[in-house]
Amino acid sequence: MSPLSGQNILLGVTGGIAAYKAAELLRLLRGAGAEVRVVMTPAAAEFVGPLTFQALSGHPVSSELLDPAAESAMGHIALARWADRIVVAPASADVMARLRAGLADDLLTTLCLAATAPVILAPAMNQAMWQHPATRENAAVLRQRGICLLGPATGEQACGETGPGRMLEPAAILAALITAEPSGRLAGVRILISAGPTREAIDPVRYLTNRSSGRMGYALAAAATAQGARVSLVSGPTALPRPDVERHVAVESAAEMAEAVLGLAPASDIYIGTAAVADYAPAPSADKIKKDADTLTLTLTRTRDILAAVAGLPERPFTVGFAAETRDLETYARAKLAAKRLDMVAANAVGAGLGFEVDDNALHVCWPDGETRLPTAPKTVLAHQLLDLIADRYHAHHPAQDPR
Ligand code: C5P
Repeated sequence: MSPLSGQNILLGVTGGIAAYKAAELLRLLRGAGAEVRVVMTPAAAEFVGPLTFQALSGHPVSSELLDPAAESAMGHIALARWADRIVVAPASADVMARLRAGLADDLLTTLCLAATAPVILAPAMNQAMWQHPATRENAAVLRQRGICLLGPATGEQACGETGPGRMLEPAAILAALITAEPSGRLAGVRILISAGPTREAIDPVRYLTNRSSGRMGYALAAAATAQGARVSLVSGPTALPRPDVERHVAVESAAEMAEAVLGLAPASDIYIGTAAVADYAPAPSADKIKKDADTLTLTLTRTRDILAAVAGLPERPFTVGFAAETRDLETYARAKLAAKRLDMVAANAVGAGLGFEVDDNALHVCWPDGETRLPTAPKTVLAHQLLDLIADRYHAHHPAQDPR
């Protein structure tokens, strides 16, 4: 059965250059079995013609609030009742402000106000607009009211700037809609995630580190928040913007990461260790090391294995480890599962365009009595798929909390 079959999705398209991506999203939603009706704001129709959406959805596009023809067919209240979910993609800064204020000055905002169905927004706007205090506040209030925000992603923008504000890719939005229950399957679950590399000081100006970008951990943090979880993110140094999480703890060294994670783990339901923690660290020199000698020898000492320490806690959270391997992925993953007594391991191959510092990844996921493969996809998509597997296994351990 198609994952969204039987679902009525109202797709709201607002004015922004990302409106063209909504056509691809519509195609994907229909491919996943959903019945889709499209509502456009007048500004959206300036970017993409309604005929595109009419052809792709197989239904006329609605845009006027007071349209006698539409009211005699499927009027706005009937459309609000028809929808199982309302997905606004792209959601402009303007529509977020109007939704926050509870305005009903066009068909889309009226429907959002009239509908009892869950509302999901995929914001898209210039990075300065997204980071403006007004938009931040609007996003926070909408979230508090139970509206789910997917994204935005960070990267190059149509206006030539770089930063947070790009609409999440249609495939990532689809993955979120497929995996996230309308109510949020991980609603209220406390998830602790460690992400990024660590930096081990050699002296006051030098350090040892690794190629981890933090992207997988940050994608998981965003996806878990979108699914209603209460997320704490312990992050080594990354170039990524701080995601919207309940708690963000910035650390540098493996020792600092161990202290932060082990401090938070007892009050967490799930721990996901995506961080690439240094396995060895030097004893840092108090002064800058001078280049007097021809060779320099560093003595490195094993760091604490944070993941194994969390898994060894008397009241441990459901513990998920990552394994980056260059060969024999499955064998090492299963060995790690047993050796560290984990509940789940997500293993990925590193090298050849996969793993570190890239947007795509593929995962081999195993747990004590099962395994599955998540094929190559953007990390934002994989994050939702992996969380779904984690939610399955976590709820199998705690059936009373599963909203399914
Ligand atoms: O044993 P290995 O380093 O390959 O395992 C990788 C997993 O262990 C990752 O989930 C990583 O976050 C975690 N790890 C850790 N502390 C270390 C080393 C690795 O938590 N010191």
